[in-house]
Amino acid sequence: MNEAETRLQYEYMQKTKELVDQKSEQTGRRLLACVTTFGCQMNAKDSEKLAGILEKCGYELTEEEDKADFVIFNTCTIRDNANQKVYGRLGLLHHRKKGYPELKIALCGCMMQEMSVIEKIRKSYSFVDLIFGTHNIYKFAELLYRMHTEKDMVIDIWEGSNEIVEDLPALRKYPFKCGVNIMFGCNNFCTFCIVPYVRGREKSREPREIVREIEKLVEDGVVEVMLLGQNVNSYGKNFEEPISFAKLLERIEEIEGLERIRFMTSHPKDLSDELIEVMAKSKKICRHLHLPLQSGSDRILKAMNRRYTKKSFTDLALKIRKAIPDIAITTDIIVGFPGETKEDVDDTIDVIKQCAFDNAFTFIYSKRTGTPAAKMEQCDSEFVKEQFDRVLTCVQETAGKRVGKLTGMVDEVLVEEVNEKEKGFVTGRLSNNVMVHFPGDESMIGRIVKVKLTEAKGFYYFAEAVQ
Ligand code: SAH
Ligand code: SF4
Ligand code: F3S
Repeated sequence: MNEAETRLQYEYMQKTKELVDQKSEQTGRRLLACVTTFGCQMNAKDSEKLAGILEKCGYELTEEEDKADFVIFNTCTIRDNANQKVYGRLGLLHHRKKGYPELKIALCGCMMQEMSVIEKIRKSYSFVDLIFGTHNIYKFAELLYRMHTEKDMVIDIWEGSNEIVEDLPALRKYPFKCGVNIMFGCNNFCTFCIVPYVRGREKSREPREIVREIEKLVEDGVVEVMLLGQNVNSYGKNFEEPISFAKLLERIEEIEGLERIRFMTSHPKDLSDELIEVMAKSKKICRHLHLPLQSGSDRILKAMNRRYTKKSFTDLALKIRKAIPDIAITTDIIVGFPGETKEDVDDTIDVIKQCAFDNAFTFIYSKRTGTPAAKMEQCDSEFVKEQFDRVLTCVQETAGKRVGKLTGMVDEVLVEEVNEKEKGFVTGRLSNNVMVHFPGDESMIGRIVKVKLTEAKGFYYFAEAVQ
């Protein structure tokens, strides 16, 4: 932990605030900032940190991008369509900046860790004011100060970092639930995946820092935490005195007032019996495990460098279902990895049927420059579309059947929001992550309510509150 760095950043927040306050005074209202998040929960968490710093720097946060004086895109590069979205939105911003030259634009996140992206932005999007990457977001206040005091585009991208800077501000999106980083980066190098290149090597946060953060969150009204890491099952392995993820969960379970613990993501190759035992006896760990399969074919799994087989995956999933019968298992699947054949996809479908996933996110393989799979022979796109549809149909059938089994049961929902489509309804999640809509009002948000599940609708439920 680097306390000097934390202090330095608070000094920059103060200095930047003076500049922003001056501008707010000239404008006759508080300057507005909008952070738009692309990508996964890690990015969502980073955006909360950015928002916290922006607030300390004198900005008021808004969700309306077209009213903001400062727009920040926290980008993702997991698949090409994530990148295309950012370029599309930048085009629109350029148009706005022509009519409002005072508009400031910053780009950060995973996409910015790619050299080719930086070159493209320098060349074709030179109206951007600030670019930084994933390793230096703790320096956001300092970078903001530079953005306000320097004339040229500020670019600060680091290749990696061993630093974990604690105790910086954050502005939570939800008062009652919050993501908590337990580790950063990834060492697995699955051959299709860009994450290890843009997020760097694996680093775990000290258990006492994690527990301290959660205790503070609970004091502040949080009842559910989501522990975040690319491979939570390898948590703590690089410490001088290693600690397992299961042990960390046991420590977090002891925190009084905390009701629910979730985590993402579990790599199947590292999931231990100890974790299954801890989950089975826990009162707070949610009945949900996200266990990405990617493919059911041994040949493709090997080419992906996933380090498990069709059999070891299904054995593991069935072992977990046996130990924790009410658990929901969800997964990620990639269709169209280089060299994939119809027979390989048959294997994937076979695993979906055997494991009866409660839900599966199915993606078409996207070639990421710099990863080993990009150099392999790519599949025909028509073929991939057909195979994708086969997988999707199978997922919908098996998941629909599994989720539908809960009809008539009574269970607890953490209410998250008022339902925008169905008037007089609220929406929340069961412990197993299934979404539930039931009659209620705003006063229920953040509360855990007992409901009877009345009607299954594919992946979600209608319900009614019970006493
Ligand atoms: N760390 C997690 C995955 C994070 S990325 C794990 O190992 O399980 C989230 C999901 O995006 C992955 O599970 C994978 O299914 C998908 N994904 C990653 N790279 C991809 C690519 N190049 N094309 C398509 N999908 C990809
Ligand atoms: Fe990507 Fe594999 Fe790491 Fe997950 S474990 S982030 S898929 S390299
Ligand atoms: Fe997440 Fe996308 Fe980065 S999925 S880790 S934001 S590349």
